[in-house]
Amino acid sequence: KLFHAVMAGGVGSRLWPLSRKAYPKQFFNLASDQSMIADTLTRLSGIDIAGNLLLCSQDHKFLAADAITDSGVEADIILEPMGKNTAPAALLAALHIIAHHDDGIILLSPSDHAIANIEDLLDSINQSFSYAESGHIITFGITPTVAETGYGYIQMGAHINAQNQNKLRAIAQFVEKPDLETANKYLEHGDYLWNSGIFMFKASTLVAEMEKYQPAILKACQAAYTADETHPDFYTIDEAAFASCPDDSLDYAIMEHTDKGLVAKLDVNWNDLGSWNAIWDYRDKDKDGNVIDADTITIKTTNSIIRSENKKLIATIGLDNVAIIETDDALLVANLDCSQEVKDLVSTLKQEK
Ligand code: GDD
Ligand code: MG
Repeated sequence: KLFHAVMAGGVGSRLWPLSRKAYPKQFFNLASDQSMIADTLTRLSGIDIAGNLLLCSQDHKFLAADAITDSGVEADIILEPMGKNTAPAALLAALHIIAHHDDGIILLSPSDHAIANIEDLLDSINQSFSYAESGHIITFGITPTVAETGYGYIQMGAHINAQNQNKLRAIAQFVEKPDLETANKYLEHGDYLWNSGIFMFKASTLVAEMEKYQPAILKACQAAYTADETHPDFYTIDEAAFASCPDDSLDYAIMEHTDKGLVAKLDVNWNDLGSWNAIWDYRDKDKDGNVIDADTITIKTTNSIIRSENKKLIATIGLDNVAIIETDDALLVANLDCSQEVKDLVSTLKQEK
C-alpha cells in the first residue's frame, strides 16, 4: 500500500511579505489557483493512494484543515507542537502508518514547490515501489541548472537493473547544501542531481535507519507519538516528549549516511518557488512578460510580478524586472534580481522588533 505524507511545517521567509510565520507560503496559491498544499495533495491523483497525511505545526491547525477541504482529498493531520525539521516529521509519518496499518510505503512530499509534466514523476513512483518494498529509500533527482547552495546534491551511481529496465540508480554520494565552490564542482562534474526533496520508503525502513543513525530522534518521536484518536481528524504529539527531540532535516540526519538510498532522475518541470523571482519564472506571463495577481493599470511595465492581497488598485509606469507585493500590513517593492535578499530583509525586521 502506498501512502502520501505531505510536510507543511516550513516558514518560507524569502516570500515576505506574503509568507509569514502565522501564514506560511504553502497555504497560499502561488503556482495555481489553489494552495500549494492542495496542489501537492492532488498531484498523485493518477495513482492508487491508500491514505494521505499532512504534517504541520499545531499553530496552523485550521489553515491545514481548510487546505485539505480545498483539495477535495481526505487526509489525517498530524500537529507538531513545535518545528523540529523534516527528520522528526518524516518519522512521525512512519510511526503513524505503522500504528494504523502495520506498515506501508510512504511517498514523502514537501509542499513548497511546483511540478509540471508530472507523468514522469508518476512513472518513477511506480518503478520505485518494489525497491521501497525491499528496504530502499528512493530519492527523486532534478537535473541542476545553476550552482544553487540551498539544495541537496545526489551523485548518481550504477544502474541497479543491468538490463536498464528502469531508471533507478544507486546513490554514490548525497551532500546536503554544499558551499558554492563545491556546488560549482558538482555542476561541472555532470553526474550530480539536485535532490527534489521527495522521498519514498517503507515506514519500517525509516524506523530502522533512525535506530541506526539517529537513535535520539527515534526515542523522542516514539515517546511523543501517541496515536491519540480522541479527535479523528487531528493527531496531536506530546509536547514535552517532542521538545526533547533533536532538530534535524532528513537530508542531514539520514540521507548523508544511509547505504539504502537510490535515485530516480525526474524529467519534469520542477520549481521550488522559493523566491519572487522563482515564482515569476514558473508562472505564465502576459504579453509584456508580467505575472499579475492584482487589480492593475500598467504602462510601460515589463517582466514584473505584481500581487495584492487586498484588492487595492496598483498602478505602475516605466518599470522592468520588479516585484510589487502588497499585503494588509506591508508592501514590498524590489528588483527581481535581488529576490534572495528578501531573507536578509526579514532578519533585519526581526532584529528591530
Ligand atoms: N511538518 C513539518 N515539520 N514540515 C516541515 C518542517 C517541520 O518541522 N520543516 C520543514 N518542513 C517542510 C517544509 O514546509 C517544506 O515543504 C519541506 O518540509 C522541506 O523543508 P525546507 O525547509 O523547505 O527544506 P529545504 O528547501 O531547505 O531543503 C530540502 O528541499 C530541497 C528541495 O527544495 C532538502 O530536501 C534539499 O535536499 C532539497 O534539495
Ligand atoms: Mg524548501
